[in-house]
Amino acid sequence: MEHEMVLVAGNANQPLAERIAACLDLQLADALVGRYSDGESRVELRTNVRGKDVFIVQPTCPPVNHHIMEAIIIADACRRASAGCVTLVAPYFGYARQERKSVSRTPITAKLTADLIEVSGIKRVLTLELHESAIQGFFNIPVDHLFIKPVFAAHYRQCHNMAVISPDAGGVERARAMAKLFACELAILDKRRENPNDSTIMNIVGNISGKDCLIVDDICDTGGSLLNATTALLKNGARSVRAAVTHAVLSGTAVEKLAASQLKELLVSDSICLSPAAAACKKIVSRSVAELLGTAMRRIHNSESISKLFI
Ligand code: R5P
Repeated sequence: MEHEMVLVAGNANQPLAERIAACLDLQLADALVGRYSDGESRVELRTNVRGKDVFIVQPTCPPVNHHIMEAIIIADACRRASAGCVTLVAPYFGYARQERKSVSRTPITAKLTADLIEVSGIKRVLTLELHESAIQGFFNIPVDHLFIKPVFAAHYRQCHNMAVISPDAGGVERARAMAKLFACELAILDKRRENPNDSTIMNIVGNISGKDCLIVDDICDTGGSLLNATTALLKNGARSVRAAVTHAVLSGTAVEKLAASQLKELLVSDSICLSPAAAACKKIVSRSVAELLGTAMRRIHNSESISKLFI
């Protein structure tokens, strides 16, 4: 079976694709994934994929529109080259935060993206820490949704006097799972958003006094949520504040703001490639999800259960 597995990398996160390939002891497929001079994507598969189990590694991170288009154009090339099954490996799923109409006359881009992925011929999606688990239901194809817990948990094994913090109501399930793992307290922040990319902490539910707090979140974008949470926790008696966030979007001046903040450490994954500034920032520590994704891909390929990876 092994020779029938083919990995195609888009341009969103080539280093991650290479790490996954190394974990699977495979070479990335020979494929041209570039652009025409007008900016349109240009794809040419040089490896034969006829009848093969193709995995396209492409988190749909910024520039999100381009990376989504690139993923579905690669999928179209695979489908037209008679690939057996095409799986999109998108550890970061862009547009996930617009998963419902929070105000009138707005789109649901998570659903639209799911539709685009399906019409391109992709038959399965492998993803990690979706902003909202229910997004799985936006697809009519199987979605394997992995959690970061096993990768991040190892980093904190030595911690004590800890409280895990959910930075908002939507993240409680994710934070509770981590608090359960460390058998520590859980606290929840009451975060309000009046405008996009602008948040305020109204209340803290739970005891954080004298605790070493670990904020657990899915995305760090502008860094606003993390910075506000750090300030609120310290103001209310926390001893220290760290954060574990799966997807390091880190847009705009997020890295500079985090570097200058009282946050002690930001643990992230390589679901998104770090910018040079983020990679150089001493506070930002990255753990790879290549092995987790590679193991899931191998199991999908072999039609084995991946539920043991959810623990
Ligand atoms: C929001 O619900 C998400 O879980 C993240 O907390 C949010 O996207 C982080 O964004 P920012 O870093 O811009 O505050």
